Amino acid sequence: MPITVTTLVENTAGTPFTIGEWGQSLLVEADGQRILFDTGPTAMIAKNASALGVDIGSVDRIVLSHGHYDHTGGLQEVLTKIRESGKHPDGIDIIAHPDIFTPKHFYIKDLVEKYIGIPFPREELEALGARFNLTNEPVKLSENMLTTGEVEISVDFEKIDKDLHVKEGESQVHDKLADDMGIIIKTDQGLVLLLGCAHRGIINTLLHAQKITGIKEIYAVIGGTHLISADKEQMQSTIQALKGFNIKKLGASHCTGLKSAAILAHEFEGAFFFNSAGTKTIL
Ligand SMILES: [Fe+2]
Ligand SMILES: [Fe+2]
Repeated sequence: MPITVTTLVENTAGTPFTIGEWGQSLLVEADGQRILFDTGPTAMIAKNASALGVDIGSVDRIVLSHGHYDHTGGLQEVLTKIRESGKHPDGIDIIAHPDIFTPKHFYIKDLVEKYIGIPFPREELEALGARFNLTNEPVKLSENMLTTGEVEISVDFEKIDKDLHVKEGESQVHDKLADDMGIIIKTDQGLVLLLGCAHRGIINTLLHAQKITGIKEIYAVIGGTHLISADKEQMQSTIQALKGFNIKKLGASHCTGLKSAAILAHEFEGAFFFNSAGTKTIL
C-alpha cells in the first residue's frame, strides 16, 4: 500500500489555492491510518486542507512534533473539525512529549522576550476533545509507523538555538527542546523520516531512528531540518553526514531556510525537492 504525505501548511504555497504561512503540518496516510503531524500556526490549516480536498475532521490521530506555536496553533480549529465530524465521540488521541506545555519563549537578554509556546491552555484543548498521550518514549502508530520519542543527541556539530528558552519562575532557561520528535515509517526501501522542526538536529534524528528501529537504510526525509541558522561549518558537517545516509528523497521545508534549502538542492540534486503547502509525496 502506498504511503502518502500531504503538506497542509508550510512557509510557502507550492500549489494554486493554498496559502503559505510560517509553520508546518503534514498529513501522512499509511497502513490504513491517517495521522496529522502538527497543525501549523493558525486556523489556516482548514482552508488549505479544503483547497487540497483533504478532510481534516476524519484523521485518526494527531502527533505533535514539539510545543512551538507554529506547529500547534491550528489545534483549536482541527479539534473543532474533528468534533463536527463525529468520528471520535470520546475524543482524539494526541501523541507528544511531556514538555510540550512548558512556557517556551524566544528570548534575547534586554532585547526580546516573546512567548512562542502552544497558544491554548491544555484544559481548553481537552474540552474540545483532545486526549493527550504525553511520553518521551517512541509510540507505535500502526504496523510500520512509530514516533521517534525523545531524540538522543549523538553529534556535536548540531546545536540547539541559544535564543530558545523556557521560563522557570522569573528566570529564562535555555530550552533543550527535549520535546522535539519525528515520525518514522518502515518501508521496503528503508526508513521514511518525517520531521517537525528537527531542533535536536537532523543528523541526530536520523541516527536515533536507525538506533531504535535497527534499520540502517534511510529512504526519504521530509520536513523541517532547522538548518536556517546553521553556519558554514555546521552546514558542511551536515552535508557530509547526510551523504553517508544515501537518501533517495529529501523534501526540505519550513525552518530549513531558503539559503540552506538552496545549498541542499545543489548538493542532493535528484533527491531534493521543496516541500511546500500542497506538495503531495507518494512513497
Ligand atoms: Fe520550533
Ligand atoms: Fe517550526
